[in-house]
Amino acid sequence: MSEVIKSVKESQIEMIELVLPNDTNMLGNLLGGRLMHWIDIAAALTASRHCNNIAVTAAVDNLTFNCAIHLGEIVRLKASVNRAFRTSMEIGVRVEVEDIISGDVTHSNSAYLTFVNVEKDTFHPVSVPQVKPASAEEKRRWEQAGQRREQRLNEESGLMQKKVLKQ
Ligand SMILES: CC(C)(COP(=O)(O)OP(=O)(O)OC[C@H]1O[C@@H](n2cnc3c(N)ncnc32)[C@H](O)[C@@H]1OP(=O)(O)O)[C@@H](O)C(=O)NCCC(=O)NCCS
Repeated sequence: MSEVIKSVKESQIEMIELVLPNDTNMLGNLLGGRLMHWIDIAAALTASRHCNNIAVTAAVDNLTFNCAIHLGEIVRLKASVNRAFRTSMEIGVRVEVEDIISGDVTHSNSAYLTFVNVEKDTFHPVSVPQVKPASAEEKRRWEQAGQRREQRLNEESGLMQKKVLKQ
């Protein structure tokens, strides 16, 4: 594990997008793929900032689209590092939608992504700075990121076992 410890605030970012015609489907709603792209970019910025290096997307947890986002609305993506492990980090992205006319803000999605810090010439995973959660919210996210990692590792080892049994 890395000896370097950083705060969540040091790498937190907020990215703002305006939904334009080219971002929408035939109903005038934001394309799911476009939102996934923005989430990936926001998470990549935070992950790279946290480790001051190149970080690649290793996995994206289940993502659900709970409400339609419309043409002309503002999409605000808030990304933070929830927890760092050995060479990987969990990045959380909170997506909020703002109606410009009414000013109403809705929480539309939350996404959790795993990024791995890689050495730029070899692409080998390298250790990441640890995270020191400060606020109660940061501590809750840190705890829950640990539980989600356990679940991911369990699911992955379950899949591996199934593959071995099939062979
Ligand atoms: C991500 C990648 C670097 C991992 O390399 P690897 O050789 O599997 O490395 P390791 O097995 O040593 O795992 C390294 C870390 O990645 C994590 N990891 C690997 N695969 C993962 C997955 N599917 N889900 C979550 N975490 C994963 C491991 O848990 C480990 O974390 P830890 O060091 O914090 O414990 C490699 O799979 C890769 O380059 N993938 C392609 C990435 C890419 O192109 N992304 C899209 C563009 S950015």
